[in-house]
Amino acid sequence: MKILFVGDVVGSPGRGMIHDYLPMLKQKYRPECTIVNGENAAAGRGITEKIYKQFLQDGADAVTLGNHSWDNKEIFEFIDSAQRLVRPANFPEGTPGKGLVYVKQGGVETAVINVQGRTFMPALDCPFQKLENLVKEARQRTPIIFVDVHAEATSEKQAIGWFLDGKVSAVIGTHTHVQTADNRILPKGTAYLTDVGMTGPYDGVLGMEKTAVLKKFLTSLPVRFEVPKSGRSQLSGCVIELDRKTGLAQSIDRILINGDHPFIAE
Ligand code: FE2
Repeated sequence: MKILFVGDVVGSPGRGMIHDYLPMLKQKYRPECTIVNGENAAAGRGITEKIYKQFLQDGADAVTLGNHSWDNKEIFEFIDSAQRLVRPANFPEGTPGKGLVYVKQGGVETAVINVQGRTFMPALDCPFQKLENLVKEARQRTPIIFVDVHAEATSEKQAIGWFLDGKVSAVIGTHTHVQTADNRILPKGTAYLTDVGMTGPYDGVLGMEKTAVLKKFLTSLPVRFEVPKSGRSQLSGCVIELDRKTGLAQSIDRILINGDHPFIAE
């Protein structure tokens, strides 16, 4: 079976890429489970109910989040009823929403887990301990477990990859918005990629309008970053093939569609 994952959707350019390409990617790869990280989907900060529902309509089976989960206040009104929305699991006990969601498609159940790193990021509960408990819980139901590690440090993501090798189907990084080229199957059968990359503006800085980012670097003054309203866009993702009985991965391929890498249908 296959899992298709599309990385950090930024603003309306990113949402446009999901709408235009997700159906074609599903046609090409025929995944049993499709996951989208949507934590930057509402103008670069957070997500709304309308956007969440549009992702499901465009073909996502689950939507993961990250450090921007709470940036759009509307989240608190719908997160508890959104059955396919996954926020970082290592927020304190009692935080609204879920960090582990089960998605059943075509007779296969996939456990989708989201955790947030702690290195160069706000302090949260230990992602390793949280993962240990959640993976144990999920394995009682299904061997097919997908983990989105929303983290800044490559070291923390790699460490989580090794920590979960052989216990989950895939450990895929998000948050840094630049796709890394280290896709591999770890020795015990877990697919790994340090960062899947960003879906949104192609000619900005991590999806934000570049003039404002440059101003910040050049002057060190406070500058508000905005998602560019026009220009070229990109989509970043990966597709994992795995054994549905063991949940272990057989291959992981990166997907990159932008002005320099056109989409190839077959
Ligand atoms: Fe993030």
